[in-house]
Amino acid sequence: MHVTVVGTGYVGLVSGACFSEFGHNVICVDKDEKKIAGLKQGEMPIYEPGLQKLVESNSEAGRLSFTTDLAEAVKDADAVFIAVGTPSRRGDGHADLSFVYAAAEEIAGAITGYTVVVTKSTVPVGTGAEVEKIIREARPDAQFDVVSNPEFLREGAAIEDFMRPDRVVIGTESEDAREVMRELYRPLYLLETPIVFTRRQTSELIKYAANTFLATKITFINEIADLCEVLDADVQDVARGIGLDGRIGRKFLHAGPGYGGSCFPKDTLALVRTAQDAGSPLRIVETVVDINAKRKQAMAQKIIDACGGSVSGKTIAVLGLTFKPNTDDMRDSPSLDIVPALIAAGAKVRAYDPKGMDEAKHMLDGVDWCKGAYETMPDADALAIVTEWNEFRALDLDKVKDLMKAPVMVDLRNIYNPDDMAEAGFDYICIGKSKVSAAG
Ligand code: UGA
Repeated sequence: MHVTVVGTGYVGLVSGACFSEFGHNVICVDKDEKKIAGLKQGEMPIYEPGLQKLVESNSEAGRLSFTTDLAEAVKDADAVFIAVGTPSRRGDGHADLSFVYAAAEEIAGAITGYTVVVTKSTVPVGTGAEVEKIIREARPDAQFDVVSNPEFLREGAAIEDFMRPDRVVIGTESEDAREVMRELYRPLYLLETPIVFTRRQTSELIKYAANTFLATKITFINEIADLCEVLDADVQDVARGIGLDGRIGRKFLHAGPGYGGSCFPKDTLALVRTAQDAGSPLRIVETVVDINAKRKQAMAQKIIDACGGSVSGKTIAVLGLTFKPNTDDMRDSPSLDIVPALIAAGAKVRAYDPKGMDEAKHMLDGVDWCKGAYETMPDADALAIVTEWNEFRALDLDKVKDLMKAPVMVDLRNIYNPDDMAEAGFDYICIGKSKVSAAG
């Protein structure tokens, strides 16, 4: 099949590369000439494990190419995926659909023969209908259907998630369009991946409901973690104890500094706005949004408290800045609340992140940037782990203690064991467990 993907952001680029791996002929389109020139040379605009290899091998095999010429890329396509950004509209939290609609207009002008236009971007309910209207008005003669096919991949595990998804959701009432979509995802039938066929607006809502549910699950365990700290209980044991109940499930029950990233914060807010506009408010989600925002701010106070109530003139070593490991993405990362609050409270912050520092340097002022984990530590009054990169999981604790002024660790991702930390001579503060003090 001939597939065109408009937009080479996370979802667009990964989807394009994976569809070519399935054996389809894929053209990825983007307006950004520099990005396309880079991709043609095998340079990835994002850090995502395995992506570079996939792009290179499929480009070499002639199944994957990149262009800025949308019309040329669309004219012979069986399916055109819209995978452009849908950021939060400034000020009110609604999704900004201007890129989606602009893509629809351009696609309309270029369609030849029957074409399935697929929205893969996360779009509010009713966007597919609007895309259909735009194309129909521009091209009354065109033969096309507009399908919703949301993407559920996670950054850092994007390729695995695309190639082995829990399910594929396809929203259309057209049998012709279903046929094209079945053909596109045929390789997944072999893995017996469930395919949920439904109406377009339902499919659009499924994407938001999924992200919102997961954000709610995280927020739930985060609040339980706060309660555990007061009651001297252990949130990791609570998570295991409830997660083993198949109705609850073990995943997404890691308490932490609050969810971040390019999806949960934006999508929870957009669904809240959609529901309010529809006169059917989602009060649980409204609360989740509020709790999560406050939680990120509260994490700085946790570090300040660990330093005896003031960080004025103190040095804080910060490990990890991205919203999660295995990505260079800094969008809505808890570090963006934590680091400025520490600096505002008078701290000197020395920070390191394996992949996120180029991006972080544009977003955080007044930080001493370090080249490695241990470089953050000399004379530090406290060490804060903000992102659970693997390389922070097995630090040489004797070395850490020798380098630091005071052996205080604030682990916002619970990657160390409190007893081990006490044994190693640290005051250790984590999430959802009582603080332990250095043994002896
Ligand atoms: C999320 C969803 O997991 C994907 O299914 C979805 O396709 C994607 O959004 C999207 O809409 O494009 P992603 O933003 O890449 O994926 O990251 P997640 O792994 O879901 O993590 C989101 C945030 O929640 C991170 O800040 C992470 O640290 C936090 N989190 C996650 C927790 O605090 N606890 C957990 O147990 C899990």
